[in-house]
Amino acid sequence: MRDQWNSKLAFILAAIGSAVGLGNLWRFPYIAATNGGGAFIFPYLFAIITAGIPILILEYTLGKTYKAGAPGTFARINRKFEALGWFQVAISFLITVYYFAIVVWVLCYIGYSFTLSWGDDATTFFVSDVLQATSSADGTGGLNVQLLIPFFIVWAIVAIVMYRGINKGIDIACKVCLPILLLCTAVMVIRGITLPGAIDGLEYMFHPDWSAIAKTDVWVAAYGQVFFSLSIAFAIMISYASFLPKDEDVVNTAFLTACCNHGFEIFAGIAIFSILGYMANVQGVGVEEVAAGGIGLAFMVFPTAISSLPALNGLFGAVFFITLFTAGFTSLISIIQAVITGVQDKWEMSHTKAATAVMVPAFVVSFVFITRSGLDYLDYADYIANSFGIVLAGIVELVLIGWFFKPEKLREVANLTSNFSVGQWWTWCLKFVTIIVLGYTFIISMTGFIREGYGGYPLWIGIICIAFLILTAIVFTAMKGKPSFYQKPDDAPGYDD
Ligand code: ALA
Repeated sequence: MRDQWNSKLAFILAAIGSAVGLGNLWRFPYIAATNGGGAFIFPYLFAIITAGIPILILEYTLGKTYKAGAPGTFARINRKFEALGWFQVAISFLITVYYFAIVVWVLCYIGYSFTLSWGDDATTFFVSDVLQATSSADGTGGLNVQLLIPFFIVWAIVAIVMYRGINKGIDIACKVCLPILLLCTAVMVIRGITLPGAIDGLEYMFHPDWSAIAKTDVWVAAYGQVFFSLSIAFAIMISYASFLPKDEDVVNTAFLTACCNHGFEIFAGIAIFSILGYMANVQGVGVEEVAAGGIGLAFMVFPTAISSLPALNGLFGAVFFITLFTAGFTSLISIIQAVITGVQDKWEMSHTKAATAVMVPAFVVSFVFITRSGLDYLDYADYIANSFGIVLAGIVELVLIGWFFKPEKLREVANLTSNFSVGQWWTWCLKFVTIIVLGYTFIISMTGFIREGYGGYPLWIGIICIAFLILTAIVFTAMKGKPSFYQKPDDAPGYDD
């Protein structure tokens, strides 16, 4: 018998917990900042409306109707679609192993905050003291031993939650973390907007620079951010929805999840950009200068901002990193669960066996990201997972469902239990708008990648990540599963119906 969420609230909180994550707090600010600040908002809103919400409705409907994680769901629609599910699961695995490292850094920084250990030079502290980074990503540079204890602590907490399952583990973790997250974010926003110079940061965040809209990279980044932030196209939401009763209304839940997630993203962005505005003011430079921290924004720029606050610096530092920790943790467990569900379904394993089968290799591989070259590997893996993996998985999902299956049938299924009807706009967004925008931008950005690589890093890192995604999809699809894995529920629309 398949596990089922204790209540609808448990599902909603888990879905919001998954969506609201480091993507909102760590990724959104630097992606927005590196893509023109306010210029980013328009493509971002466009991506939410035409892709984020429609795909969320689609994935919730698929999960609750076919009662399986991504590989099982796609295999039950058509066996030839199964590889897409494993490709998505492989993306989740890749994200798990690097996401872990960030949660580990965050845990360290909660401790460092109380004494403002980064001193006057947060960048050197992060790169040289915390990460002990080497100057080249060509070799690992060896393990960064001082991260081992926090690394084991995070793994231990994750393992406890995952072994306890969706109701005794994930549900409880979300019910503990989300209120703390909201409270800490509210404290950050109030602190942020009451600082001198905050308005400059907000102006930078919200002021649209229309010229950036013509840039393909900005669109790729916007779609990538929406997919990553909503946890769509990499198996998570299908897996979570597979534990719902089939008469649950998922349309309103999709709107609710998207509104909470992006509302929170903007809300947290207000705190972050206000504080950056303040920092720019203190240093007498432009906001774009302080906001250009890229992947290290949260760990290099923010600590400096925290040190420059007028009072209670240590406390605000801890509040900021506790916010990151709670957000990251509830997402991390959802990403691992997506992989566990896929494996458990295919071989009808017990939850404990499947959790072990997934967590042991994830544990081993995650060491790579706490080596001295971990930051470079992480940057590259994040790029491949998002700009290549998730975008490609999203396109293929929409092409298969939109053009080779029956989106109208799925719309009917969604509407059967929904208290308002999803109109035809939904099918159009899935079949046309998103595929066209995403397909075009994907080709352009991949052409750039093939020509120039990424970030000056050695190409082999990207090739390993891409090969891992593709080979996992091929190998896991080729393996024989239990007959029940391929068996769709009687009332679910079939390929030949
Ligand atoms: N949705 C998760 C995040 O935003 C993965 O971090």
